[in-house]
Amino acid sequence: MLKDKIQNIKAEIESLKAQSVDDAEALRIKYLSKKGLVTALFDEFKTVPADLKREIGQNLNELKNLAQSRIAELKERAAQNVKVETVATDLTRPAVNTPLGSRHPISIVKNQIVDIFSRLGFSVAEGPEVEDDWHVFTALNFPPEHPARDMQDTFFINTNPDILLRTHTSSVQVRVMERQRPPIRSIFPGRVFRNEAISARAHCIFHQVEGLYIAHNVSFADLKQCLTYFAKEMFGPEVKVRLRPSYFPFTEPSAEMDVSCTLCGGAGCGVCKGSGWLEILGCGMVDPNVLQNNNIDPNEYSGFAFGMGVERIAMLRFGVNDIRHFFENDVRFLRQFQSA
Ligand code: PHE
Repeated sequence: MLKDKIQNIKAEIESLKAQSVDDAEALRIKYLSKKGLVTALFDEFKTVPADLKREIGQNLNELKNLAQSRIAELKERAAQNVKVETVATDLTRPAVNTPLGSRHPISIVKNQIVDIFSRLGFSVAEGPEVEDDWHVFTALNFPPEHPARDMQDTFFINTNPDILLRTHTSSVQVRVMERQRPPIRSIFPGRVFRNEAISARAHCIFHQVEGLYIAHNVSFADLKQCLTYFAKEMFGPEVKVRLRPSYFPFTEPSAEMDVSCTLCGGAGCGVCKGSGWLEILGCGMVDPNVLQNNNIDPNEYSGFAFGMGVERIAMLRFGVNDIRHFFENDVRFLRQFQSA
């Protein structure tokens, strides 16, 4: 019966859904096009007996109107949804900033040290952190009974007392001398390890930058000039320097270099313990025994060497009063330093 078909299609139309404008258009074709389901009912209408024509004709027209308005509404809503979606992915909106990390203060200071010595023609080399006795002690003229060779000061590998964690970057001097002939003009940044109780002033792991210059006629005046240049570049042109006699097995003569206190300018304060001076490095003329151990003729060549603690210099530069801050990796501490 046509009347039933009208009812069925009406129910169908009332529950139509469309995700997109294209879906809605497909529905329009399905129901309202020339070959559509609603249109087909109009064809059938011709066969309806005359006495029912009025009623069924009215039903049919209502169905057609319903289909038209319903499908038009679905089309419009789908179009609006597309618009809302476009707003949700607004391509002109500024991107969320990617948080950038900052360089570790030890890296900043290490890079500055490397920079300063590069300007004087020093190249950069590195050596292993796990070393043997020869490179850390013996080749550097340490006597067999030297206290640094003691378990108390040095981390040895349990199964082999010849293998240890380097206690200073001076071991890289030996590594470089055994593979390179003079002239040598290099610095060696790296990590070192000492069996020390951790406190505000000492850590069992820290960083050094070593320097080695070997050529003809290198004198103590060259050492002093080079390290004075370094101190003024690192701490500012007004800084004063002094060299105090000291002792290292691998240099002769040996010295320690002080700079005028970066906090009080030399007047005396808590940081320099009233002396006005702060020690920043050890240095000296390379001991002839060390040259000989590495097959460099001490009658032909001479040289100087120096070694500085990076943490120590960073503490003075940035006013950090506890070395442990450098190893705790608290981002509130690490974020404060300007990259370089
Ligand atoms: N290696 C010494 C230290 O760790 C520093 C130093 C290096 C001294 C080179 C003189 C020459 O204390």
